[in-house]
Amino acid sequence: MTDPLTLDALEAIERERVLPTYARLPLAVSHGSGAWLHAVDGRRVLDLLCGLGVTSLGHAHPDVTRAIGDQAGRLLHTSNLLHLEGPVRLAERLSRSSLGGGVFFTNSGAEANEAAIKLARRHRRGGEILSVHRGFHGRTFGALSATPQEAKQEPFAPLVGGFRAVAPTVDALTDAIGPGTAAVLVETIQGESGVLPIDPEVLRAARAACDAHGALLVFDEVQTGVGRTGGLWSYPATGVTPDAITVAKALANGLPIGALVTGPHLYDTFRPGDHGSTFAGGPVAAAAAHAVLDVVDDDAFLARVGEAGERLAAALGELPDVVAVRGRGLMLAAELDPAAVGRHGSTADLAGRLLDEHDVWVNAPSPTALRLLPPLTITDAEIDEGVTRIAAGLAAR
Ligand SMILES: Cc1ncc(COP(=O)(O)O)c(C=O)c1O
Repeated sequence: MTDPLTLDALEAIERERVLPTYARLPLAVSHGSGAWLHAVDGRRVLDLLCGLGVTSLGHAHPDVTRAIGDQAGRLLHTSNLLHLEGPVRLAERLSRSSLGGGVFFTNSGAEANEAAIKLARRHRRGGEILSVHRGFHGRTFGALSATPQEAKQEPFAPLVGGFRAVAPTVDALTDAIGPGTAAVLVETIQGESGVLPIDPEVLRAARAACDAHGALLVFDEVQTGVGRTGGLWSYPATGVTPDAITVAKALANGLPIGALVTGPHLYDTFRPGDHGSTFAGGPVAAAAAHAVLDVVDDDAFLARVGEAGERLAAALGELPDVVAVRGRGLMLAAELDPAAVGRHGSTADLAGRLLDEHDVWVNAPSPTALRLLPPLTITDAEIDEGVTRIAAGLAAR
């Protein structure tokens, strides 16, 4: 086998041949194992981000690897024009474990939200789609139109019409939801903006106003779903049941898959020909998703996610530069003392140094917070190791 390309060699090719949409970090990875990434230069990095909440069972989980290999050896693709047991059984599983209605498969979180937006417009023709400030729902035009962040939206104006963002407050949502509302799209915990939980009272108010006006309440569970917050889905802990959820990221531990899952009352909203995707709901991604759910959809496993989250949150909360820890399960953010951020330049600089100098990967979703989305399979020893590395990085300046 030839030697892997070095980081410098990869960067040189990328500078010419890969469109520069990503600010890549200076780490070239050859393989992964559990909570660890192995770099081409021989370093081992503790992965407390899971590729942004995707590889929740860790890297190279044997059950997922086996499921993918077995299915790949039998059948990769047929289109959605034929019947396949794996994807159909996956739809059954997703529906039974959540809202009890129908499933539309996609290849990503943004596409799951596109499906939800189209469903909402089928539900109420011409109706408005409401989202809330600081929400993130993806980069395709519909999902971006529901993502009220100036820097992401402004260069691509005009966006899709019929979207409006409001504050995530009881009053703002109650005022905004009316007979012209098709749907409200909201995360239960806003991930990309810094792990900001939406107050359940606000979700309850949105539920009541949607019920009063016949609008749909859609929870974006792309980041919160599949065990991340210590429940298979995050919405039961809020006490509010939405009309639909969108799911992606961790569902197949790294293979592209997403889904819109509806309540039974929405089963007939889409009609044949309304929506589709060549690759979505393919048998290999579905096989991986079954392997993931075999592990995650288990009370003891989910209880352990809760315990691991408490251990991690408590240890982060003890660090001198951490003023608060928020989130649930293993979806956490450490809010830093502004003086500590100042010492490091920015949270992005700090996260960069944690990776470069302390071999631990977290990210900086806001100017004052570090986000941690570690594998749900992380051990206590790995949690302690991660916090020790973060503490060393914080103390280094
Ligand atoms: C809550 C939420 N929705 C949607 C998306 C978009 O998912 P994808 O990148 O798979 O399109 C993300 C991605 O970070 C997300 O966190």
